[in-house]
Amino acid sequence: MTKVALIVGSIRAHSSGAQIATYLTSTSTPSPLPSVLASHDISLETISLAELALPPFTEDIVPQAITPPNYPQPEVSKWSTLVSSFDGFIFLTPQYNWGYPASLKNALDHLFKEWVGKPALIISYGGRGGGKAAAQLKIVTAGGLDMRVAEKTPALSLPRGVITGPKTVSDDTSFLDVFAGDLKEGVEEFVALVNEKKE
Ligand SMILES: Cc1cc2nc3c(=O)[nH]c(=O)nc-3n(C[C@H](O)[C@H](O)[C@H](O)COP(=O)(O)O)c2cc1C
Repeated sequence: MTKVALIVGSIRAHSSGAQIATYLTSTSTPSPLPSVLASHDISLETISLAELALPPFTEDIVPQAITPPNYPQPEVSKWSTLVSSFDGFIFLTPQYNWGYPASLKNALDHLFKEWVGKPALIISYGGRGGGKAAAQLKIVTAGGLDMRVAEKTPALSLPRGVITGPKTVSDDTSFLDVFAGDLKEGVEEFVALVNEKKE
């Protein structure tokens, strides 16, 4: 079976990202991700960078020079093996000060060969949908890491209380329902990229 991972970029203790990921991967919300992927026999697994707790990137050897998974740090070797086991990635990123979070950049920079050529879909969120974070992440993944990135980048606008307040999305994630069309377009383009590789 083809395997895809949803990588949650925020590592905040009570991140909106975790709640949005639950919404996106649930079969009991209007999220089109589970049904579109299942209809192509593609499984979806959530990866929480918060749970992985990767060390900060401090290596002298550039990952480009390493044959996976032979990294000096065991946590990074595990990360390498995990990433290698997937056929594609959906990155879920918040916008922090017009960019994407350091936690996600750190997770990307630890590896190289594991990402190259793999299909990707970027889903962002923020006050106005986090489009600037998505644009940055697209440059890094499509350019620096040579991934095959979907053009469409669904951008989920958060209600004002979520952006400024200490509380996260709360249990009521119904404000996400209006993005079903954008998400469907994005995931269908992503699936086409995943299937292209198999042919
Ligand atoms: C350090 C920081 C910077 C932020 N900068 C932006 C921003 O530039 N644009 C925006 O729309 N929201 C911004 N926000 C609001 C976040 O998009 C919002 O808090 C979101 O819930 C953060 O995602 P997370 O909870 O999954 O970490 C910022 C939040 C933080 C913590």
